[in-house]
Amino acid sequence: MKITSCRFEQAAGRPQDEPRFRGPCVVLLGRSNVGKSTLINRLVNATGLARTSSQPGRTQTINFYRVNESWFFVDLPGYGYAKVPVAVRRAWGPMVEGFLDRARDRIAMALLVVDARRQPVDSDLQMREWLQARRIPYVVAAVKSDKLSASERARAARALEQGFGASTGADRPVMISSRDASGIRELWKQVDTVLSATGTR
Ligand code: GTP
Ligand code: MG
Repeated sequence: MKITSCRFEQAAGRPQDEPRFRGPCVVLLGRSNVGKSTLINRLVNATGLARTSSQPGRTQTINFYRVNESWFFVDLPGYGYAKVPVAVRRAWGPMVEGFLDRARDRIAMALLVVDARRQPVDSDLQMREWLQARRIPYVVAAVKSDKLSASERARAARALEQGFGASTGADRPVMISSRDASGIRELWKQVDTVLSATGTR
């Protein structure tokens, strides 16, 4: 896909703040601090568009980035990090689950973002189950793979796939580095395939 424009459209903490434009959404799900916001910046080649941090809990609202004026990357607050303040953790459920339920019909796909070096946590598996139950296409995007050597990377990919139960080919992770952009082309290919099936450009 050729990106002709990408801009921050809206931060929504409440349903009434969600954008009026009801285009298809590609949502980024994953643990806090795993690298969701950084991945959006890399995908659209715009450092600093989505705010990132070395501290977990950076993204606290549902952030909509409108691409080519026609669809959204949706950056969500991450889940499951003990160091995130309790109030932020409590807000996650109603905010994110509420959005996912409301937006179900326009979620074109999900990027399930995990750390290439780690096994999926329970919340990752629950998220994957939620997606499967609703037949929402997803890709396991394993970021921070630049922290692994080439041989470790292959091993880590297999371990991750097994961690997800290797139930379908969908769980074969795309090994990504948002730092050096490896795997980004492959990830775009998968996003393109799904979006073009929905007629989105
Ligand atoms: P929340 O908003 O708290 O849910 O976190 P997030 O998932 O949006 O994480 P964010 O993008 O803010 O990144 C967290 C940290 O990981 C930052 O310090 C990033 O620079 C770093 N990071 C993200 N992706 C990569 C990657 O592919 N490689 C390396 N080396 N660091 C990364
Ligand atoms: Mg974030």
